[in-house]
Amino acid sequence: MGIVNGHDLDLMRESGRIVRKALDEMMAMTVPGVSTKEIEMTGRKVIEKEGATPSFLGYNGYPAATCVSLNSEVVHGIPSHDRIVKEGDLVSIDVGAFKNGFHADAADTVVVGLADPRAMLLVRTTYEARDRGIAAARAGATLGDVGAVIQETAESQGFSVVRALVGHGIGRKLHEPPQVPNFGRAGRGMKLTEGLALAIEPMVNIGGYRVRTLEDNWTIVTIDGSLSAHAEHTLVVCGSEPLVLTGNSGYH
Ligand code: MF3
Ligand code: CO
Repeated sequence: MGIVNGHDLDLMRESGRIVRKALDEMMAMTVPGVSTKEIEMTGRKVIEKEGATPSFLGYNGYPAATCVSLNSEVVHGIPSHDRIVKEGDLVSIDVGAFKNGFHADAADTVVVGLADPRAMLLVRTTYEARDRGIAAARAGATLGDVGAVIQETAESQGFSVVRALVGHGIGRKLHEPPQVPNFGRAGRGMKLTEGLALAIEPMVNIGGYRVRTLEDNWTIVTIDGSLSAHAEHTLVVCGSEPLVLTGNSGYH
């Protein structure tokens, strides 16, 4: 379990800063006509220029440094020269960086150009769910408190939260215990303690919560083809509001 303090926290902040920078540059170039591979190359360049390595590249054989998932793709979209972003697309970008022995991990979602109001509501609700989940993640609260507020936020708009994928502890490894479900019941589950580093990452669908994996063995899509949004931060639990290490994008 990733309990960080003092010097380790400073190192993890640095990884978080790099993730933020990569994500900001990737988000800024997400306009009609750009390929998801070009977005990947920009993110990878930022990470490497900052003296970090991409957390995802080679993880369980994942073939890229970032995930760029379009529309009904939930997560783990593999960047490709053939995937061109177009007006109205919902684009989720996920990136992790490893430096000085510590990982940070974050994701943002944007709807490109003239957006369908329902897609915009989905994106706004996903950020709200994540940020309310983060606010609930303080020492003495439980994982169920976090999951419950995320689930309530999504479902209050008629959306659903993906069950098959969850957030995670993070630190010296990209994925550490505990698992952090985006659903649950207040008061249930593990109690959070100061210094625990978590990646909280709701995936919210307009339709049902069920997902499947494409033939590339990575891309996760909604079963019903409905749009899906993803928002993630890496944070450290404190006595009051947690310390968010992957910053603020200014996109929401
Ligand atoms: N943010 C995702 C996660 O925490 C990204 C993992 S992609 C992988 O699970 F390629 F590294 F698997
Ligand atoms: Co993650």
